Amino acid sequence: MAKTSTGADIGVYGLGTMGSALALNFASQGFDVAVSNREANWIADFVKEAGPLADRLKGNADLAFFVQSISRPRSILFMIPSGAPMDAMIKLITPLLEEGDTLIDGGNADFNATRRRSAAFDGTGMHFVGMGVSGGEQGARHGPSMMVGGSDHSWTQLRPMVEAIAAKFEGEPCVDHLGPDGAGHFVKTVHNGIEYADMQMIAEIYGVKRDAGKQSAAEIGALFESWSSGPLSSYLIEVSAAALQSVDVKTGLPVVDVILDQAGQKGTGRWTLIEALRMGQSANTIEAAVGARGWSSEKAIRVMAEPLLEAGALAAQVPDDADLEHALLAGRILAHAQGFRVLAAASEEFDWSLDMARISEIWRAGCIIRSALLDDFAKAFRGELPGGHLVLAPEIRKMLGASIPGLRRVVAASVSLGVAVPALSASLAWYDSMRRGRGTANLIQAQRDFFGAHGFERVDASGKHHGDWNAL
Ligand code: 6PG
Repeated sequence: MAKTSTGADIGVYGLGTMGSALALNFASQGFDVAVSNREANWIADFVKEAGPLADRLKGNADLAFFVQSISRPRSILFMIPSGAPMDAMIKLITPLLEEGDTLIDGGNADFNATRRRSAAFDGTGMHFVGMGVSGGEQGARHGPSMMVGGSDHSWTQLRPMVEAIAAKFEGEPCVDHLGPDGAGHFVKTVHNGIEYADMQMIAEIYGVKRDAGKQSAAEIGALFESWSSGPLSSYLIEVSAAALQSVDVKTGLPVVDVILDQAGQKGTGRWTLIEALRMGQSANTIEAAVGARGWSSEKAIRVMAEPLLEAGALAAQVPDDADLEHALLAGRILAHAQGFRVLAAASEEFDWSLDMARISEIWRAGCIIRSALLDDFAKAFRGELPGGHLVLAPEIRKMLGASIPGLRRVVAASVSLGVAVPALSASLAWYDSMRRGRGTANLIQAQRDFFGAHGFERVDASGKHHGDWNAL
């Protein structure tokens, strides 16, 4: 898209960790970047610390000057907290914009808010884009994966810049326009749901090794390190291996041993579930992972309960490392399959035409859930895919066939030993439910009809029927 004025190629508002890193990434790719921030004193410091990149950065505390310093049609990226601050900024900046300009929200926003904000821009000649950015600070600085929503107009404008700063997988940029309005933020939300599930399952394997296997953090870290070049090869395994082998300077203990076992969360995992349940889906591995973060915060009751509640544990062998590796692989496949089901349901509901192969492709590098499996998923989505279900693709079925026995043994042993593996068990329950043509909901229907005359469908006739129930 031809520039109609001279000035910065893009504006970045919000110089926190992610905003600063993205601004520097744009600058190092040769773009001129206008920068601004609510706390004006951060701006000069940021530009000063940019060293040789400072020439490409134009700081402006005044919002009107900041906007004027950007070439039209403008691209202005906001890296500020989602929610009320975003709405307040839109209100302030919109009167300063002109036809063709695009505002981009690069934070983890609720896609419902993004849809509302996009709709408010419809017909104004200006555009609003929700863009999911994954990869943390390092990713933002050196190559994130980006999931872009919004209009075709905005994508044409943004594309050369975001492709330049994106992570590359075999030379291909890990960014794409995934659909209109909230599509980009929705895909990022589901990415985070899968991220929660993967982190939880890794933590469960750590729990089995630590609590049943009595292994040290460093030993478990070394095991994870050995997995990082196999089928589990992924950023999260690498991070976990490195974290487990890190030593606390103050105490000389493994860092993980001095960290309180209470996990934080900012809401994206929960949003995945809320949307999944609203659409009649159950992403139960993700659900277990979000739930486990909730249980983690109930520290006081857990400490109180430990000496009071009997384990009732049964004898079982601690699972071997090969089974643990297979269990994690199967769980990882199943968590992704659930995430893709949620994406498919949303794509249908919102008419987004999400391309699951492209989504897998842009998750292959840069983002937090990047893993060797994503290339397999991308290929599976491009190949034979019965019913559109990832788990039914021939290659994925083969991988599951080889890894499910390990998952069964790990879940069975953990249950016997009294070690909680909620996300791994949920994955297995999902798998066993999905592979059974005749489930047990016939009895649910019978119960519903018995107590509430809700009616049911028969296997041998159409229409709605009632049972001849024996009175209690
Ligand atoms: C990413 C991450 C990131 C997220 C953190 C923390 O893709 O780079 O998903 O966006 O903010 O992982 O999320 P929680 O605080 O909810 O764990």
